[in-house]
Amino acid sequence: MNISIILAAGEGTRMKSQIPKILHKVCGKPLLEYVVDASEGAGIKKNIVIVGHGKEEVIEYFQERDVIFKEQPIGKDIPYGTGFAVMQGKEYIEDEGIVVVLCGDTPLITEDTLKKLLDFHKEGGFDGTVLTALLDDPTGYGRIDRDELGNIYRIIEQKDASEEEQNIKEINSGIYCFDGGLLKYALGKLNNNNAQGEFYITDVVGILRSEGYRIGGYIVEDSLEIHGVNSRIQLAISEKIMRNRINKIHMENGVTLIDPENTYIEDGISIGSDTIIYPGVSIQGSTKIGRDCIIRSNSRIVDSEIQDQVEVDSSLIESSFVGSRATIGPYAHLRPKSRIGKAVHIGNFVEVKNSSIGENSKAGHLAYIGDAVVGSNVNIGCGVIFVNYNGRDKQVTTVGNNAFIGSNSNLVAPITIEDRAYIAAGSTITQDVEAGSLSIARAQQVNKRGWVDKKDLEGK
Ligand code: UD1
Ligand code: MG
Repeated sequence: MNISIILAAGEGTRMKSQIPKILHKVCGKPLLEYVVDASEGAGIKKNIVIVGHGKEEVIEYFQERDVIFKEQPIGKDIPYGTGFAVMQGKEYIEDEGIVVVLCGDTPLITEDTLKKLLDFHKEGGFDGTVLTALLDDPTGYGRIDRDELGNIYRIIEQKDASEEEQNIKEINSGIYCFDGGLLKYALGKLNNNNAQGEFYITDVVGILRSEGYRIGGYIVEDSLEIHGVNSRIQLAISEKIMRNRINKIHMENGVTLIDPENTYIEDGISIGSDTIIYPGVSIQGSTKIGRDCIIRSNSRIVDSEIQDQVEVDSSLIESSFVGSRATIGPYAHLRPKSRIGKAVHIGNFVEVKNSSIGENSKAGHLAYIGDAVVGSNVNIGCGVIFVNYNGRDKQVTTVGNNAFIGSNSNLVAPITIEDRAYIAAGSTITQDVEAGSLSIARAQQVNKRGWVDKKDLEGK
């Protein structure tokens, strides 16, 4: 069986972070998850992740994924290096299988490239194959030394390279395929006699070649794919490349992005065709957006389902559902578990939380709707508050179909306003209201004729 061994035990010191490097995110997804996805996508069913620094957090994050974690012991006087990391996965290597070695910090690698690497390895009949890249500036990477036949002769780490060797532009991506049996054999012969005192996986190449085995080098078509993340600057570069990639796919699928450079769509989001997205929009998590929607600037939509022909302007939508033809915003906030029906309007400065609102209902301005079940064709006036909290528990308000809630009213839960009930503006409603009734709950107005003139006279 073919397996992958994904190296993810390094400390990532240059990130200057409490979080393990490979859990840092690019377009909403950890670096390591991209690598696991690419490996699975390339048809590798058994993925072994070598963990060390921050292993608890890494294992916790991936607990629902079908990956095998293997721990690399870390500490003073314990060996270190990519070769030592691969050794930890030795028990899973089958003699007849191929082992793909991957780095957990190269999120831009694609399943397509891994498939091509595997094909190149198999079709060329190689014993090992290195994924390489041609870079104008190869600084920091291991350099590829090829023989006159084009086979790889050895890999020289930057720190061990002579000045002449440092001029080589072909570099090691850190991704390889090996024949399982030969990899196990060569791992047994590694040593750490080098500038860094580490066990290098790259030395496997030299060992196998010196015993007459053939090592191929497959040059990646797009060298951006092997860009590794060792620092926050490289993280930002990866984010930008990934963002472009994601946005390009949406545009190819028929979504208009007014300014793709400034549109932040996380990995794994679906958007229907003819939807238009303005600059400064963030679409995150498990969000799904339908067709013919318009999402205007400064909106953030997280873990939500937005149906077709919805318009959202400058609003925050979290873990909610928005039915087709609804209009949200500007400046609305749908908090978790809001269910907005078809053609509903939620306008300026309206906050909705854990509430369902039926078709065609409207809350145009300055309202708070919390823990409510609101029917269809309801009008919620300006300044209405669903008073859902008594300091201890949250209570439910129910509003029937075609009800009218006048401006500046308080509906004190638990309470039911039945169908077609009419609440006069400025009422504080503490008792249920029957269908079709008018309810007025405010002090009676008193007009005192001539009162101002009288007051003015008294002042003289
Ligand atoms: C490595 C290669 C280099 C290549 C480069 C590509 C070696 C010796 N060098 O160098 O030729 O050009 O990658 O990016 O392999 N890791 C462990 N355990 C360890 C050490 C590292 O799991 O003991 C993991 C790291 O978490 C990381 C990966 O291995 O994901 C690569 O290690 P890193 O230290 O970044 O290697 P480079 O110096 O970049
Ligand atoms: Mg590295």
